[in-house]
Amino acid sequence: MLNIVIFGAPGSGKGTQSERIVEKYGLDHISTGDVLRAEIAAGTELGNTAKGLIDHGQLIPDELMIEILAAKLDKLAGGKGVIFDGFPRTIAQAEALKTLLNGRGEDVTAMIELDVPEEELMDRLLKRGQLSGRADDNEETIKKRLVVYREQTSPLKEWYKNDGKHCYINGSGELDRIFADIVAAIDSKI
Ligand code: AP5
Ligand code: MG
Repeated sequence: MLNIVIFGAPGSGKGTQSERIVEKYGLDHISTGDVLRAEIAAGTELGNTAKGLIDHGQLIPDELMIEILAAKLDKLAGGKGVIFDGFPRTIAQAEALKTLLNGRGEDVTAMIELDVPEEELMDRLLKRGQLSGRADDNEETIKKRLVVYREQTSPLKEWYKNDGKHCYINGSGELDRIFADIVAAIDSKI
């Protein structure tokens, strides 16, 4: 089983590169952002809770997020593996993921960090905001998302270095070059 964490700031290309990784390795894709947006679109209670937080660039509380992730993972028994996109975002989530996978006799295979300068992230997300209609793709919310990433999520780089799983990728430039670097990193961990 291949368990890949795709990691990076808002707009770093997690979703874009996940599609290619899914195609090459035949993995299931869990994007926690997509899960939450589907709940919002369906008008569920979870969706209502999530909307207020996402619109302000804040994280959904760990306990709730871990419960959602565990439920998604349970539904995916028997595949070739999973790409985790947007999860974990805190140390508590990383520890929970490790426990969940270890409980199945598995572990994270590789953590792929896509590194992109903040000015470029802002440009990409403002551009996407004009097309996507994502409520959090506006300048004020993007700034908050970047602060949350810096303060709460970026410490996971060290956490995964200590766990021997961290792979650094320069996330700026051509999509094909970035993907080739990701494939080389994954293959070096298999
Ligand atoms: P989430 O949906 O995960 O959003 P995000 O992390 O802010 O990242 P994005 O989806 O905006 O960007 P991406 O890295 O996928 O980049 P993409 O490929 O789209 O989370 C949203 C919210 O949900 C969070 O803020 C939080 O509130 C909540 N949430 C989610 N998970 C949570 C968790 N685990 N715990 C708590 N709360 C959680 O690319 C971006 C743009 O750039 C696209 O237009 C793309 O075409 C373009 N692009 C991609 N690559 C390149 C390139 N190489 N060159 C030029 N342009 C590029
Ligand atoms: Mg995404």
